[in-house]
Amino acid sequence: MNIGIIGAGPIGTTLSQHLFNTGHDVKIADARSIKKLEGKDFKGKAVTFEEVIQNIDVLIISLPFHVVPTIKEKLSQLDDNTIIVDTTNYYPFRDGNIQPIEDGKVESVWIAEQIEKPVIKAFNNLLARTLQTITSADGSKMAMAISGDNQSHKDVIAEMINAIGIDVVDNGDLNNSWRHQPGSPAYCTELNKSQLERALQLADKAAAPIHRDEVMNHFRPDMQHKDIVAMNRKVYDADTL
Ligand SMILES: NC(=O)c1ccc[n+]([C@@H]2O[C@H](COP(=O)([O-])OP(=O)(O)OC[C@H]3O[C@@H](n4cnc5c(N)ncnc54)[C@H](OP(=O)(O)O)[C@@H]3O)[C@@H](O)[C@H]2O)c1
Repeated sequence: MNIGIIGAGPIGTTLSQHLFNTGHDVKIADARSIKKLEGKDFKGKAVTFEEVIQNIDVLIISLPFHVVPTIKEKLSQLDDNTIIVDTTNYYPFRDGNIQPIEDGKVESVWIAEQIEKPVIKAFNNLLARTLQTITSADGSKMAMAISGDNQSHKDVIAEMINAIGIDVVDNGDLNNSWRHQPGSPAYCTELNKSQLERALQLADKAAAPIHRDEVMNHFRPDMQHKDIVAMNRKVYDADTL
């Protein structure tokens, strides 16, 4: 497929590598300037924003949550048949307080409303480091949750994810995607498929933001990846899945 990625952070660059290596035609853009891509470790072609949305089957948006509304006008040239994937997560310390989200609006529903286009939520519930190594905490095959309202679009994205060696759990429509938002047992806890299915069922919408902030309070920049995953599993109640 022809795939465009907007955002060259750890998730965007890691995805560019996996998707290039699994045979896709990949191009990647920064939302501000092509110059921002210099020195970054991605695969595929570095292009401008205007170019990245041309002639693609899938557009992956991988930006800080609060930045997404700023690209709405630029996305108006996007073909209506293009599948849009939203990888974002809301963190108030980084994104500022966004009142509708604080009041319980589902994060990717807000994103879809902001850009006035449907999205599939995927790649939000694995840490970038997990996505690089693709092994779960117990060594079994890693699984990822996806949500969205268009089943044929979800099937395309699920096939793309399977090809890079990750199992997929279809979590239903976009409105249900709060089950894999930050603070939930499914969020960045490195689960296999059956564990992830249970985690999605156990999600508690009211508790998740509290658990998310608890993890951020304990986070230290010098933590090892395995310690971050262990902390997530403990605080998000994923240890016994
Ligand atoms: N990191 C993870 O483990 C992880 C896991 C799952 C989901 N996510 C979510 O996926 C999204 C991408 O995360 P990420 O960690 O890969 O990268 P990120 O730090 O959110 O940055 C993504 C891209 O956005 C650019 N950017 C930063 N500030 C910007 C601004 N004000 N305007 C326009 N572009 C800006 C970054 O450029 P610079 O590099 O120049 O700053 C980078 O190209 C986020 O919503 C995040 O919550 C992250």
